[in-house]
Amino acid sequence: MKQNFDLVIFGGTGDLSMRKLLPAMYQAYSVGEISPLSRILVCTRKPQEVETLTAKVETTLRQFVPESQLDGEKQNLFLGLIQPVLLDLINLENGWGEFAGLFAGREDTVRLFYLAVAPSIYGSCCKNLSLKNLITPTSRIVVEKPLGYDYETAEEINETMAKYFQEEQIFRIDHYLGKDTVQNLLALRFSNFLFENIWDAKSIDHIQISITEQVGLEGRAGFYNEAGAMRDMVQNHLLQLLCLIAMESPNKLLAEEVRLEKIKVLKALKTIKDNEVNKSVVSGQYATGQVNGEQVDSYLEELGEQSQTETYVAIKAYIENWRWAGVPFYLRTGKRLKKRSAEIIIQFKNVTHNVYSELGHNLQPNRLIIQLQPEEKIQLMLMAKALGSENTQLKTISLDLDLQSHNSGNRPTAYQRLLLDAIDGNSTLFIHRDEVRAAWKWIDPIIESWKQNRKSPELYDAGTWGPSKADKLFDKQDYCWVNLSELS
Ligand code: BG6
Repeated sequence: MKQNFDLVIFGGTGDLSMRKLLPAMYQAYSVGEISPLSRILVCTRKPQEVETLTAKVETTLRQFVPESQLDGEKQNLFLGLIQPVLLDLINLENGWGEFAGLFAGREDTVRLFYLAVAPSIYGSCCKNLSLKNLITPTSRIVVEKPLGYDYETAEEINETMAKYFQEEQIFRIDHYLGKDTVQNLLALRFSNFLFENIWDAKSIDHIQISITEQVGLEGRAGFYNEAGAMRDMVQNHLLQLLCLIAMESPNKLLAEEVRLEKIKVLKALKTIKDNEVNKSVVSGQYATGQVNGEQVDSYLEELGEQSQTETYVAIKAYIENWRWAGVPFYLRTGKRLKKRSAEIIIQFKNVTHNVYSELGHNLQPNRLIIQLQPEEKIQLMLMAKALGSENTQLKTISLDLDLQSHNSGNRPTAYQRLLLDAIDGNSTLFIHRDEVRAAWKWIDPIIESWKQNRKSPELYDAGTWGPSKADKLFDKQDYCWVNLSELS
């Protein structure tokens, strides 16, 4: 069980709080991780009766927590930890006095201030907390990705937070880092001797990292149309996955050591110059189509206005260091695609000499396939003799490791794990300011080039794998995006 804490959610009845934070806290409570003396203060701009708020939270739990984890008695006890707070985040005169009063006598209790609000309000939240002397040595602030809109705005936000909080008190969330399977990438790489000597440009031909989604706007038009896939997914989730695949081994599994290695990767990313953007980056936007057999609207229809925002991005990236020189990393993400999946394909080089060529066999290069979701498995694709064949017939077979079948019981959700880590002050799975900086430095020139050249995204039919132009990113003719759901 964790130490007592006060979790304060600014934007307490917003989408993030209702869909992710409160369900995650209930899940933590239901497995005994939260002490009964902890509190969850849900801050809102409109007055809320306790009963109204608890009814809302009950509904949200029913919607977002798996039924098997719902338990009437635990739910009631959990709801008892929740308190509505009427607070105008900007105006110090409105509610801050009463709010500060809530912490009297709890100076030593860990405080977690979760900014589930627009970044434009971060400054006044921090300032008001400071003016009311609410920032104690064991206080932490949590913010969501993407931090900022570009390098400059991210720096402004970081500067503002740094005025009031030490870097160790700032927890920048990228929920992909809270996923079990994402953490397993580190285990796979750094606890298996097998891979270390072949994890480089000498042995690896290329790497593909894909996060594909079936969902569309999901009611987040305001945010998404400003951000687009590049800021929403590439700047954070995809680059974090790339870091975990490409980084050197940290000396120890400590927050600062892991971050240091990730930062080195981000800094080594080769800048994609204006004149290279066209051949190294493809952006797309979904048109109408069928997803899972259902007709869906185009992005513009969902949005209800004209827009050049990209809902798909594919990039060929290079890391300029000894380990990875010359190895293309293909990154891809998009909404309204054929299947929901997050997968990494490590494609090895082919054997140097094919002794089977006279028998007419082309050899397929080995692949290590890591599927992060919806299934969680690792496959190693090898060539083998088809048993019983007269001539030596070869075929590709896979060594399969189904991670789910090796696990029992409930596993924490990404938000559950990250919130508990933040309460503990453990920042290993959070993003350092320098990572944010380096990621924007790489992303900004691409977005700037689109803007300067008035680049329109390629249209793709919803329910497909995105614009066909993305296949042209591959240098070699017989290479293409691997879609696991379509591999036999
Ligand atoms: C969020 C993005 O960070 O990640 C969403 O803002 C996206 O647009 C979501 O849908 C995907 O997360 P997951 O865990 O469902 O792959």
